[in-house]
Amino acid sequence: MSKSIKAIFAGSFDPVTNGHVDIIERASKLFDELKIGVLINPNKNSLFTIEERMNLIKEATCHIDNVEIIFFEGLLIDYCKQNDISVLVRGVRSAADVDYELQMAHMNKELCTDIETVILPTNTKYSFVSSSLIKEVLHFNAEIKNLVPACVLRELSKKNNKKDK
Ligand code: PNS
Repeated sequence: MSKSIKAIFAGSFDPVTNGHVDIIERASKLFDELKIGVLINPNKNSLFTIEERMNLIKEATCHIDNVEIIFFEGLLIDYCKQNDISVLVRGVRSAADVDYELQMAHMNKELCTDIETVILPTNTKYSFVSSSLIKEVLHFNAEIKNLVPACVLRELSKKNNKKDK
């Protein structure tokens, strides 16, 4: 009997975009189980709380069976070792992303040789989409309905309305 392969796609997801959902859909077909790890990136200011981000990902990926949304603090590699996860999934949009992703992949490999990073190129139609840019353009009421899941659009509009009051 072949061993089931568990993978994790970790990130800040503040908020999840259509680019992330595309990676989640594709990665969910490659692995038996896919965890989505919503993590705190201390280098980034967040708009949504961890709970809000997890709920948004849950809603945006409710059509995928083998996905579970989780949160933890600490090293990604430690969570993987404790939970029998052997693959880290990451998406790349551009050559600039590749530098950052390779640095993380090499560091994670240094920390644990048994865990592999699998890098998926983003769908070209979302290659310019980032959570940071979404927040920036929304601030000026730009049209972003093709770039984020409907639930994210709904919650971003609520935040924007509060800010305008
Ligand atoms: O979406 P992001 O912010 O680019 O994701 C970065 C993230 C959260 C995956 C990375 O910062 C991470 O893995 N954090 C957990 C702590 C850790 O393991 N750091 C070492 C990374 S080599």
